[in-house]
Amino acid sequence: MEATIRELLDLIVRWVHVIAGIMWIGNSLLFNWLDRNLTPKEGIEGEIWLLHSGGFYQVEKKQLAPWQMPDRLHWFKWQNMTTWVSGIFLLIIVYYMGGAAYMVDPNVAEISTGTAIAIGVSVLIMSWFIYDLLWRSPIGHNTPLAFAISFALLIAVSYGLSQVLNGRAAYIHVGAMLGTLMTGNVWLHIMPSQRELVAATEAGKRPDPALAYRAKQRSIHNNYMTFPVIFIMISNHFPSTYGNQLNWVILAVVMLAGAAIRHFMNIRFWYAGWLRAAAGTAMVGLAVLFVLMARPNSPSSATLANAPVSFADVQEIIGLRCLSCHSATPSDDQFTVPPAGVTFDTPDQIRSMAGRIKARAVDSKTMPLGNKTGMTEEERALLGRWIEQGADISR
Ligand code: HEC
Repeated sequence: MEATIRELLDLIVRWVHVIAGIMWIGNSLLFNWLDRNLTPKEGIEGEIWLLHSGGFYQVEKKQLAPWQMPDRLHWFKWQNMTTWVSGIFLLIIVYYMGGAAYMVDPNVAEISTGTAIAIGVSVLIMSWFIYDLLWRSPIGHNTPLAFAISFALLIAVSYGLSQVLNGRAAYIHVGAMLGTLMTGNVWLHIMPSQRELVAATEAGKRPDPALAYRAKQRSIHNNYMTFPVIFIMISNHFPSTYGNQLNWVILAVVMLAGAAIRHFMNIRFWYAGWLRAAAGTAMVGLAVLFVLMARPNSPSSATLANAPVSFADVQEIIGLRCLSCHSATPSDDQFTVPPAGVTFDTPDQIRSMAGRIKARAVDSKTMPLGNKTGMTEEERALLGRWIEQGADISR
């Protein structure tokens, strides 16, 4: 009953989160694109013609005189707020209410769920103040330096979290942190500047350039954060990223490559070689990722001889460590239906899932979830050898 309610909540909130996120990021990408494609026109900043769903759209970008102020002005701010609020709810529903299995990994650090949550929440709050202070300070006017410091801090947070939380929770907190910074930028810098622009226009005055400068700067930051954030949001489908021993290096590579590709897309209007540069960055990023992801976590199988593994041993381990969740009738306190529909009740079910068992329990060690059932390194090695020997269930 409780598990069903949680799953239903998860489903609804996630649905809202994805829709709001598409609207917010989609608008952001569209306006960036518009800004760069405007054709200069006499008397205004620029103009563009668009074709969409059966009609022509003429969009002009301009400053207004007081009497030109329209009655209705669309702001595009609630998509951001909806994305952030639903994201925080998801963090609570999936991770904080999911407990130890989602937040902690005894192989990473033996901390309580409460401590793990406290660390996660403080990172989200502290990061805003540190980031905001850095970019408000005199250092903030030296863009390359402030960028280098920000990126170093980002990697430090990723590393730090990967040393205390389970890999998946570490990743999602970096993502939630970036999302929080983006939301802070929208509501505490970009919106006030736009409000000021409207007020100045109504009063027939020139808007404050300092406010406009900071709003523009934060809007550029948000632009660079979009691709990395989206990667982090989909990363929990890819255990060889967050489950890797070097998960924080993988995250750093993806964030750097994602931001760099966004950069080449930003400058494509004056830099003809942008596509080659973006493709080159993507290739290098992919090569590094491939090497990192293919690298097995601590090669525990080396400690055991190559003697054939009997299926009886395998079945015993799976019964002990996996069946509490992955069974038609789970006994786990959280899961009342087999997670991801995966069951290991019969030898055939085990054999047919051999590849995924290796990926999750041997290579990335992301199963059992949060190592809730206390699987040992020897057991992982044994499963790995049985699979390498052909996953034979008749022996
Ligand atoms: C505490 C409950 C729990 C235990 C114990 C557990 N799992 Fe899982 N398993 C999950 C959850 C939750 C998911 C779905 C989320 C995900 O994929 O991370 C899942 C998904 C899976 C999947 C399907 C997704 C994929 O990547 O193919 C496989 C395979 C898997 N587990 C293997 C195992 C093996 C092998 C064990 C035992 C060594 C095990 N699990 C023990 C909770 C558990």
